[in-house]
Amino acid sequence: MKEKKRIGILTSGGDCPGLNAAIRGVTRAAYEMFDAEIIGIHDGYRGLIEGDYSVMTREQFSGILTLGGTILGTARTPFRNMLKVGEDNVDKVAAMKKTYKDLRLDCLVTLGGNGTHKTANLLSKEGLNVIGLPKTIDNDIYGTDFTFGFHTAVDIATEVIDRIHTTAASHGRTMVVEIMGNKAGWLTLYAGVAGGADVILLPEIPYEIERVARVIEKRAENSKGFTIVAVAEGAMNTEEAKMRKKEREQKRAAEHYSASADVARKLSDMVGVEARAVVPGHIQRGGSPSAYDRVLSTQFGAHAAELIRKGIYGVTVALKGNTITHNALKDIAGVPKPVPLDDQMVTTARMMGISLGD
Ligand code: F6P
Repeated sequence: MKEKKRIGILTSGGDCPGLNAAIRGVTRAAYEMFDAEIIGIHDGYRGLIEGDYSVMTREQFSGILTLGGTILGTARTPFRNMLKVGEDNVDKVAAMKKTYKDLRLDCLVTLGGNGTHKTANLLSKEGLNVIGLPKTIDNDIYGTDFTFGFHTAVDIATEVIDRIHTTAASHGRTMVVEIMGNKAGWLTLYAGVAGGADVILLPEIPYEIERVARVIEKRAENSKGFTIVAVAEGAMNTEEAKMRKKEREQKRAAEHYSASADVARKLSDMVGVEARAVVPGHIQRGGSPSAYDRVLSTQFGAHAAELIRKGIYGVTVALKGNTITHNALKDIAGVPKPVPLDDQMVTTARMMGISLGD
């Protein structure tokens, strides 16, 4: 007889393509390997805190491989609030442990980004059996080469840059495309290279707007009447980079700052070109996962089910080279993964003559 296991599963943080494929990966492999009962926890940790869940059937995980978003719902429940007892007087950690215990779970699978992993690690330290799966279009989770959702977002952002090329070239404009990624520039870097951007501005590499202006002028001298700038939403110039993070964030919030609008305005003023800002925004997180992400999510999910079978907890699944493996939650939770300045893709961009604004 197959062993019985009760598995809680939740998705937390921003949605992204591949969440449903990963949920399907975990549950389908679990149903195959053991007598699994799956409890779907609604809207991430909110559902775990409030005891909002449903007992799922196998059929509910069928037909979701290609579906965007998450069938479980998601919410942002910042880690910094987890240890605080707010106005509602709820001890969130105690509430999550209670739900886990009341449901008699054998383990909890959490699909999410850095914030999700911090809370997963906290719950693991509190004695719960937790397994994490790394999702985010930002690709900024330490210890894994790629997160699921990233490649789909690269495809979408690349298509945006491709389509912008048409208008840029026809009208002789400078088009500044703002790509998601507040802290990490992976998405901008990959989409910028894939889309043939002339300038790529990342949060990790403070830029001089004069250098970007010079690119436009130089291209004009070479009879290239248009320029494509890919700017990460968290990119900053050298002056802003000197500011304290909090100060910079407050300034930007007060100004309703947009990286692309700021760069486009300054370039118009400096070079006299027509520069336009384009913000694809959440479209980059929307819709069906790419084939790559469907495969990665399925592999991550199946690996998580295998870990459950073996009783290995306190870990998060990862891709290293071509191998699906796992890291200890305590080693990766909250560790950022910015683009290293000597990353090979950074080097490639420079070798291609792409300006990084520095
Ligand atoms: O973490 C994914 C992400 O899309 C970031 O690139 C972006 O900065 C952020 O989420 C936006 O979050 P929200 O949808 O909550 O505004």
